[in-house]
Amino acid sequence: MSGAAPVIEAIAALFRDKIAAGCEGAGSLESALQLLEQASPVAAPEPSVLPALRYWDEAIGLVAEAAPARLTTALREAAPAFHWRQNPNYLKTLDRDYLSGYAFTEFVGEVAPLAQDGLRVGLLLIGPDRHYPEHNHPAEEIYLPLTSASWWRAGEDWREVAPGQVIHHAPWRVHATKTGKAPLIALYAWLGEVARNAELTVA
Ligand SMILES: [Fe+2]
Repeated sequence: MSGAAPVIEAIAALFRDKIAAGCEGAGSLESALQLLEQASPVAAPEPSVLPALRYWDEAIGLVAEAAPARLTTALREAAPAFHWRQNPNYLKTLDRDYLSGYAFTEFVGEVAPLAQDGLRVGLLLIGPDRHYPEHNHPAEEIYLPLTSASWWRAGEDWREVAPGQVIHHAPWRVHATKTGKAPLIALYAWLGEVARNAELTVA
């Protein structure tokens, strides 16, 4: 846990800033923050990397332009210890090119340095020119993108979301993301039914 502590503290500080600013989903983010503050250290998973990590340096460089310095520094310093993985539901449904540019690591969750019932907190990395197709999940979700990308959710049009803008997805709301020329790094928090991974909603 010790290596992850500065990251957790920087994430909590960012959550507090967004809540204070009255961001989208502020009430849910407040719930996530309360759970985060109660999370228990557990044996951290071994570090692991995936092909998508070739985009890490570029992505974290973009984060440095937009995110609080405290968070960027904590992520840079802790990154060698991150355990990167992929949603097992996607291994047979998403194409090889997408999978070669996609990975996530969690700070609170089932495979993470902290555990807390009803909460997952992690970091999603998606390489350039990729489309994360429509999907949903029973957990409520809050995204804090740290770089720019296009986002869609059921009932709305695609929109460019700048770093720092908060996105809230109610349970089961279908959503999707596209990257352009730059990779995406986004923090996320899941609340509620967090054990069930996301599934694609398109063939
Ligand atoms: Fe989601």
